[in-house]
Amino acid sequence: MNTTRTIVRLLGASALCIGFVTSALAADKVDDAALRTAAGDYFEVIPSAVPAVKGNAVTHEKVELGKMLFFEPRISSSALISCNTCHNLGMGGDDNLETSIGHGWQKGPRNSPTVFNAVFNIAQFWDGRAADLKAQAKGPVQAGVEMASTPDRVVTTLKSMPEYIEHFKKAFPGEADPVTFDNMAKAIEAFEATLITPSSRFDQFLEGNDVILSDQEKQGLALFMDSGCASCHNGVNVGGNGYYPFGVVEKPGSDILPANDKGRFAVTHTADDDYVFRAGPLRNIELTAPYFHTGKVWDLEQAVGIMATSQLGTELDEKSISAIAAFLRTLTGEEPRIVYPILPVSTHATPKPVAMTIKN
Ligand code: HEC
Ligand code: HEC
Repeated sequence: MNTTRTIVRLLGASALCIGFVTSALAADKVDDAALRTAAGDYFEVIPSAVPAVKGNAVTHEKVELGKMLFFEPRISSSALISCNTCHNLGMGGDDNLETSIGHGWQKGPRNSPTVFNAVFNIAQFWDGRAADLKAQAKGPVQAGVEMASTPDRVVTTLKSMPEYIEHFKKAFPGEADPVTFDNMAKAIEAFEATLITPSSRFDQFLEGNDVILSDQEKQGLALFMDSGCASCHNGVNVGGNGYYPFGVVEKPGSDILPANDKGRFAVTHTADDDYVFRAGPLRNIELTAPYFHTGKVWDLEQAVGIMATSQLGTELDEKSISAIAAFLRTLTGEEPRIVYPILPVSTHATPKPVAMTIKN
């Protein structure tokens, strides 16, 4: 069954046509200059240079170390799971699973977001519970369902390999004891700051290239702004910078929004934050299916239709949904070319892998 069609049928066929879009769709041709000016009020181009990170200078040495640690399975207790397991840098920076699978084959509660451009998000995780990438990186290492290790075990592991000690010394010069859990997180943060995807076709349009987008993609952009998507999904990451209830107008079904995950409520404990989540950053969205924090939706058109009904109370027709999805696919940027790091060999002092018993 074609789910998009079904949803469109359920919603009826009337398109929301207001403001800019009315003329854009009616004419089936968009005024490029006006569209670019309107878009400039909502969105920013991804910079081509690595952004600065607060309190953590992004040096070459730190980035190289952070890359090793990102690919390092021995910071998990099984010595099998690395950050790259769930944030595969060859697959859009996530795992393309409904929800992630970690230590002992356990299924985690949420879908893995991409690490690409994560440096631009207001805070990390679907509920924003980590202030920055440095704070974030300490979480999965210790999470029982992810890497199931401890800070002590990680430090012992890293100190057991002389090559790592050298790398930490170079990355954190002048520190008496550079191999720390905190510095592991800082190095990973510095590496992640380099995982940006500039030069998407959308960015090229913002920068003045009129012919880089098709008419349909331009109509999708116009609709994205005029129907209200851009009021939550804006800024450099086209999202990732604010928190909103999932289901502002109408709660999606419990398959997509189950009652047990109340999102930001668990962070702030205020009733206003019931089922509040960070507006998904939409950069590279075509690479990161399945969608939503539950990962229940595999089809981008279907995700767009759900957003229209749940967040805007709007019924979008099939043509509008296709146009918006086509626009969203222009947000795919140039992915970083990563040379796979060669990792130091274990020594007799390296903690042995903990056998994983299957827990599901
Ligand atoms: C077992 C799978 C798994 C592993 C291993 C893992 N992650 Fe994640 N990661 C996730 C999931 C799932 C989330 C979302 C969790 C949430 O929002 O509650 C996440 C969230 C993130 C985010 C937030 C992105 C955003 O947009 O909010 C970053 C950054 C990240 N992980 C980096 C890392 C790093 C660095 C490591 C290694 C130290 C790592 N992850 C290891 C599954 C994993
Ligand atoms: C009121 C704010 C708001 C509006 C308006 C809104 N969104 Fe969202 N959007 C969110 C939130 C919050 C999420 C995260 C939902 C969750 O918890 O999974 C999200 C998630 C998404 C996702 C999935 C992201 C991912 O990585 O899985 C897509 C795609 C999306 N929105 C597109 C749209 C489109 C297209 C529109 C307009 C039709 C729109 N949104 C309107 C707040 C909004």
